Amino acid sequence: MSYILSLDQGTTSSRAILFDDQGKITAQSQHEFKQIYPKAGWVEHDPSDILTSQLSSAVEVMGRAGVRPRDVAALGITNQRETTLVWDRESGKPVYNAIVWQDRRTAAACKRLTDDGAEQMVREKTGLLIDPYFSATKIAWILDNVTGARERAEAGKLAFGTVDSWLVWNLTSGHKHVCDYTNASRTMLLNIVEGKWDAELLKLLRIPESMMPEVVWSSERIADVTTTLGLGAVSIAGIAGDQQAALFGQLCLNAGDAKNTYGTGCFLLQHIGDKFVCSKNRLVTTLACSLEKKLEYALEGSIFIGGAVVQWLRDNLKLVRSSDEIEQLAQSVPDNGGVVLVPAFVGLGAPHWDPYASGLIIGINRDTQAGHIARAALESITFQVADVVDAMNADSRNPFKELRVDGGAAVNDLMMQFQSDLLRIPVVRPAITETTAIGAAYLAGLAVGFWQNPQEIWSKRGEDTRFEPQNNAAEMQKARTRWQDAVKRSMHWNK
Ligand code: G3P
Repeated sequence: MSYILSLDQGTTSSRAILFDDQGKITAQSQHEFKQIYPKAGWVEHDPSDILTSQLSSAVEVMGRAGVRPRDVAALGITNQRETTLVWDRESGKPVYNAIVWQDRRTAAACKRLTDDGAEQMVREKTGLLIDPYFSATKIAWILDNVTGARERAEAGKLAFGTVDSWLVWNLTSGHKHVCDYTNASRTMLLNIVEGKWDAELLKLLRIPESMMPEVVWSSERIADVTTTLGLGAVSIAGIAGDQQAALFGQLCLNAGDAKNTYGTGCFLLQHIGDKFVCSKNRLVTTLACSLEKKLEYALEGSIFIGGAVVQWLRDNLKLVRSSDEIEQLAQSVPDNGGVVLVPAFVGLGAPHWDPYASGLIIGINRDTQAGHIARAALESITFQVADVVDAMNADSRNPFKELRVDGGAAVNDLMMQFQSDLLRIPVVRPAITETTAIGAAYLAGLAVGFWQNPQEIWSKRGEDTRFEPQNNAAEMQKARTRWQDAVKRSMHWNK
């Protein structure tokens, strides 16, 4: 058997990639799907769109590569995290749309929990801050707002799942209701010190325990696919939330190893070993993938809008026709012309955690051109990452010596150079930037013996590209001060 199939169910698209035993991409397929914005601050996905876009990518990639199911050693799944689905156990039908991680509808509920003094307890048990980002208050919202949902949930008739749960449930015809540890650690309901659903938190949120999936390890045989879709009975053997999958895909397996993924959002994770540590700088602690079936931890800084700011320039402002035109537009001007853009479109995540922050563009004048806005947008991604690096450096015993990067926008050289200039450390980009998908492939491949160990994988990796800081430290410091000023102005605006 010569391939691993990786399913990468992201926020805006579903992708399937076939990897060979050298870790090289043989074929890939991608389908974007609809984003639903019922109200300001609300973001939903149709669960059947998630499923059909993902399954059609999987079938398509097999056809494209001319690969038969019996050539596939295992299937790995990685997914957008926190996004919340609730469905009927008997019919398999969702009771509501998937509420997406970016959705802010539960901001008031979170504030009530914080005002009631739950923050410290939540932090000590889950490593998270109380924020609408995480699944718990989204589940509670569904139970409180969908007619009959609470009664059905209390009668054991409803199932909750993150996106991995939804995919596995459907791939196994409803036989497996699981969620891996990394996804579970994003719900605000898993006690990550004990590694189990927390009865006190479930009670506080009024969520029946019967709704919760069985928690499984990220790298183990879970079940065989039973749907008749041309995938055969391939074994599902790897599952991880996309950011933990990317950490694994970069082979950041030891304390101090860190990566930043530039996706819809940006997610900076640093492995911190097998001891739970709470951040003192408003970062969250989360579970990392483990090959040894023991709890391992990472510090995470989650930035809600990263590459999505480029989509916004493309789809809303129509400044570019495709996202890859952005680098050219940004390079049409020598600098940002004094423009600063804070993309707080869904509030701000780490390290500010302000669900009421608003997007802002400041410093515009009569000379401002589209190129300046494009440049400010790209810079905003790197400024946010720099804020998180600072917070992580203040927290960790292992200050950054370099930053490993990946994800769609990491291919943008202009931005990576600016990132290195801002951080004053090298930025290192691997040959394959699809680290999320490859991380899920590694997890599945290692579980079934397709690869023997991470060292074997490491020896097959291609060359990295390095961006070294240029001689412009004072200028960069000035730029950061202006950025921090703009961030302050954007905060609390929607309160
Ligand atoms: O926590 C949200 C994250 O998992 C979403 O990732 O790649 O879809 O932006 P992405």
